[in-house]
Amino acid sequence: MRACVVGLGKVGLPLAVQYASRGLSVIGCDTDAAKVEQINAGECPVVGEEGLEEGLKAALREGRLHATIDTAAAVAESVVAVIIVPVGLTADRRPDFSHLDAATEALASGLRPGTLVLVESTVPVGTTRGRVGAALAAGGRRLGVDVLLAASPERVSTGRIFRDLRTYPKLIGPLDEASWARADAFYRAALEAPCLLRVRDPETAEFAKLAEGLYRDVNIALVDELARYADALGIDVTEAIAAANSQPYSHLHQPGVGVGGHCLPVYPYFLPEEASLRLPAAARSINDAMARYGVEKLEGALGSLRGATVLILGLAYRPNVKEAAHSSALPLAEALQERGARVLVHDPWFSDEEVRALGLEPSSKFPPSHVDALIVQALHDAYRDLDLRSFAGCRAVLDGRNALDRSTVEAAGLRYLGIGR
Ligand SMILES: NC(=O)c1ccc[n+]([C@@H]2O[C@H](COP(=O)([O-])OP(=O)(O)OC[C@H]3O[C@@H](n4cnc5c(N)ncnc54)[C@H](O)[C@@H]3O)[C@@H](O)[C@H]2O)c1
Repeated sequence: MRACVVGLGKVGLPLAVQYASRGLSVIGCDTDAAKVEQINAGECPVVGEEGLEEGLKAALREGRLHATIDTAAAVAESVVAVIIVPVGLTADRRPDFSHLDAATEALASGLRPGTLVLVESTVPVGTTRGRVGAALAAGGRRLGVDVLLAASPERVSTGRIFRDLRTYPKLIGPLDEASWARADAFYRAALEAPCLLRVRDPETAEFAKLAEGLYRDVNIALVDELARYADALGIDVTEAIAAANSQPYSHLHQPGVGVGGHCLPVYPYFLPEEASLRLPAAARSINDAMARYGVEKLEGALGSLRGATVLILGLAYRPNVKEAAHSSALPLAEALQERGARVLVHDPWFSDEEVRALGLEPSSKFPPSHVDALIVQALHDAYRDLDLRSFAGCRAVLDGRNALDRSTVEAAGLRYLGIGR
C-alpha cells in the first residue's frame, strides 16, 4: 500500500516513519525544500522525538520512505493521502487555514479516482467535509465515490508519539461506508493502535478532538482559580488537589503560570461565535492571567522587582520538548520587564540565538553570576538535580509548575513560592 503524508513536521514525519515501519511505501510531502533534502539525506529535522532518528534511518535504508516537495505527483502515486499540516491562528485570532488550503489544492491536483484522504490536522468542526471535501469535489469529483474522506484527528503528544500511536485508540470519522472501509484497512495496516474508534461522521471526530483540548484548558482554569483562593486562605492547593482526586469523580489538573503549546491556547478560537460557549473563553482569560499573577507573587516576596535580575528556567511550553509555541515564558518576561526587572532565560533545548529570536535575553552563563530570583516555567529533566545554592544572590524561587520540593528550596536558604502554595 502506498501512502503519502502531507506535512513533515513534528507529527507528520513520525507518522510517515510509523507507516513505513509497518511495511507501507510512504512518500512524505512538504513545502520546505531544505527539510525535504535533509530528510532524504537521513538527517532528522525534529529533535527530542523518541525513536524518530533511528526510525527515519531504517525507513530510508529499506527504501520505504522518501520525501518530496511535489505533493501532486506524490498523491498521484498513492492510494491514501494523510493531511497533517497545521491550522494555527491569524493575528486577530481566527483559524488560519492557509496551510490546509494550500495542501488541499496541491493534493486535489494530483488526486486519482478512489484515493482516500484523511484529515489528521486539528480543525474547526465542519472543516473536513465543508472545506477540504468541497475543494476536492471541485471539478466534478464525487465525494464517497471518486474521493473517499475521513477526519482522524491526531491525538499524540510530541516526545512520545510512537508510544501514543501504540496506546491511544485511533478516532476515525468517515464520510460514508466506503470511506470507513478504506480507513479501517489503512489504519490496521499502518498502526499498532489498540483499537480503531469509529465515530458517526467527520464532524464528530473533529468535535471530539476539540473537546479533549477544551476540557483540559477549562480544567486548568478551575484549578488556577482554586489556587488563587488557596493562596488567600494559606492552603496548599497541591495537597488539596491530591486529596480531592482520591475520589474517582475528581480529575483536577495542576495550576501554573499559564498554558502554552500549539493546542490548548489555540482550540478555543476554533469555536465559532454562534456556538456561544462561555467557559472556553473564560478559561482562556483566566489561564492567560496566571503569568502576571505569578510575577505579582514574586514581587510581593521580594518587595520590588525594579533592578532585580530574574532567571526563567525553561523556554519550552512544557518539559523535555523543544517547542516554544505560546510559551508562558513570554508573558512572564513581559510582566517582569514591566516591573523593571532584567529577565534572563535559560533552556537546555534552545541555543542562545533561538532564545534571542523570540526577543528574550539568554542566560549564556549558567548559572549566571548573579540572580535575585528564579522562575520555574518548564521543569526539564535537566533541572531536576539543580543545586539551588549555585545561584549567587538568589533569594526566592517561584515554582510556576508546583513541581519542586518546598523543603529542598528552603534548605538552600531560598524563599519558596508556588501557585496556590
Ligand atoms: N505538535 C503536537 O504536539 C501535535 C499533537 C497532536 C496533533 N497535532 C496537530 O498536527 C498538525 C501538525 O502539527 P505539527 O506540530 O506537526 O506542525 P509543524 O509546524 O511541526 O509542521 C508542519 C509542517 O507542515 C509543512 N507544511 C506547511 N504547509 C504545507 C503544505 N501546503 N504542504 C505540505 N507541507 C506543508 C511545514 O513546512 C511543516 O514542516 C496540527 O494540526 C496540530 O494541531 C500536533
